[in-house]
Amino acid sequence: MRLGVMISGRGSNLQALIEACASPGYPAEIALVISNRGDAAGLARAAVAGIPATVIDERDRARFAEAADRLLRRHAVGLVCLAGFMRLLDHGLVAAWRDHMVNIHPSLLPAFPGLHAQRQALAAGVRFAGCTVHFVRAETDRGPILAQAVVAVHPDDDEESLSARILAAEHRLYPSAVRLIAEGRTRIVGDRVEVEGWRAPEATVLNPCPASADALVSKRG
Ligand code: GRF
Repeated sequence: MRLGVMISGRGSNLQALIEACASPGYPAEIALVISNRGDAAGLARAAVAGIPATVIDERDRARFAEAADRLLRRHAVGLVCLAGFMRLLDHGLVAAWRDHMVNIHPSLLPAFPGLHAQRQALAAGVRFAGCTVHFVRAETDRGPILAQAVVAVHPDDDEESLSARILAAEHRLYPSAVRLIAEGRTRIVGDRVEVEGWRAPEATVLNPCPASADALVSKRG
């Protein structure tokens, strides 16, 4: 499956996808990287990997969408992966790529959509945080959920430490979720995503966890 990855900045999730695509048997390749910013550090990662990258420096949302759509089609992209893409997308573009565009967000959606998701999680006092890969719909950070990864919130966490823990999970989750799509194992049914051959972990985890016991409390229930 040919991927088009859209970025605005650092590009560490792009890097995780580049590395996954380089591993033997991975069922996808990155055909194109699009950035809306010329100074995105992720562009250098694409260059090192020899992946075509284009900056679309266009303020008008509709014109940006038109240019992006044309490029994605020219490169025969089958799945668009938003990876730290920080612009609101034109609704026409989202509709044109419906069910063929995914995003990664640093929270357990539907909790904490929008900016500073990790800060929102700390302010809410949740004991678990994480990240979500979902199909993109018109509303920001909404859409059928494909996969999530959970990390524990620690008592001494600040935004930086929690973000780093979530980011490490993102780098595992995104390639794994894209693999499911590329293998044709996902089906969107209404607001939900069915996954063929879905394996889920059995453990229950408490946080805070008992001092004497392991955090994994039971295997079921
Ligand atoms: C990630 O936390 C991602 O979940 C969010 O933006 C950040 C992008 O980081 N959408 P990077 O550019 O992939 O390093």
